[in-house]
Amino acid sequence: MPVTTIEWENDHIRMIDQTRLPLELVHLKIDKVEVLAEAIKSLRVRGAPAIGVAGAFGILLGIQNHADEDREGFFKLLEETAIYLNATRPTAVNLSWALNRMQAVANSNAGQDVPSLKQMLRNEALEIWEEDRRTCRALGQHGQALLEDGSRILTHCNTGALATADYGTAIGVVFAANEAGKKVHVYADETRPLLQGARLNVWELMNEGIDVTLICDNTAAAVMQKGEIDCCIVGADRIAANGDTANKIGTYNVAVLAEKHNIPFYIAAPYSTIDFNITGGDQIPIEQRAPEEVTEGFGRRTAPPNTKVYSPAFDVTPNDLITAIITEAGVIYPPFEANLRARTSQTKSQNPR
Ligand code: MRU
Repeated sequence: MPVTTIEWENDHIRMIDQTRLPLELVHLKIDKVEVLAEAIKSLRVRGAPAIGVAGAFGILLGIQNHADEDREGFFKLLEETAIYLNATRPTAVNLSWALNRMQAVANSNAGQDVPSLKQMLRNEALEIWEEDRRTCRALGQHGQALLEDGSRILTHCNTGALATADYGTAIGVVFAANEAGKKVHVYADETRPLLQGARLNVWELMNEGIDVTLICDNTAAAVMQKGEIDCCIVGADRIAANGDTANKIGTYNVAVLAEKHNIPFYIAAPYSTIDFNITGGDQIPIEQRAPEEVTEGFGRRTAPPNTKVYSPAFDVTPNDLITAIITEAGVIYPPFEANLRARTSQTKSQNPR
């Protein structure tokens, strides 16, 4: 059973501190929105769908102690909390998607009293969590049909249970194939600078007894050249309306290599990761990370003091390098512009904006 990454317990969030993996499995109890904001920024919770769920629960933390008689103040606090949480990480659209959903529930019930509004928000946050669990399993089923017994899959960054509520997207596809009795083999890019592939993907896959080989990011070309990869499956942090996809830095490298070697390149993501408000990948905000994550990763200096560093957390893979996008509504092939929109009305978890 994949781990439960994040959940709501009575009046607080219980979640895994992903910065401690793979050495220690430590759960955090978070009951303050400021502590959650720090946890998102420092990647204690990370991965686009998991950040979305964290944002929804963060709203509950923000409003739960507000005085029941002050309705005006309640709406002000709700908005301030959403703005505050939305500023933690800019690229994964799942965060603003979940925050907007929470605000929409309150705004469309503006005549209700504060205790009722609190209850409605709690129900909505729990529904976002449940929906993520259902969505990932549906997506996994659609994706696993693309795999055969013996398929060899290359992946980048962590996209398993740890990146969602409890199942995963790209690695969810692998879990679903495994559950269907297919013996697949995963090549996991280590994913510099923060090693989500090495620390998190390998840990999750080994826990499930799935055959996994860790490779340095710069080994991907060599394994493709040797004919050892049947397909690439990665996740997404934001997909533009035309299918251009932002994902962990280095994903674009993998897509270029896959095209060169004629290997199918799949994105696995829920509809909540699609941003229909932007037409192309050039409009996706890309988070820049601190230089120390590159020069002193995990506490050890690996470059001279004062080294100039460029460290975007994500890159954008153009849609023409993407074979298909695996979603909870099915596997979507180009032209993405038309085909992504055509399916939105058929899925419950569509981006409401
Ligand atoms: O910086 P991170 O670790 O939050 O980046 C995560 C990724 O890039 C994942 O591939 C993406 O969020 C998809 S997770 C299902």
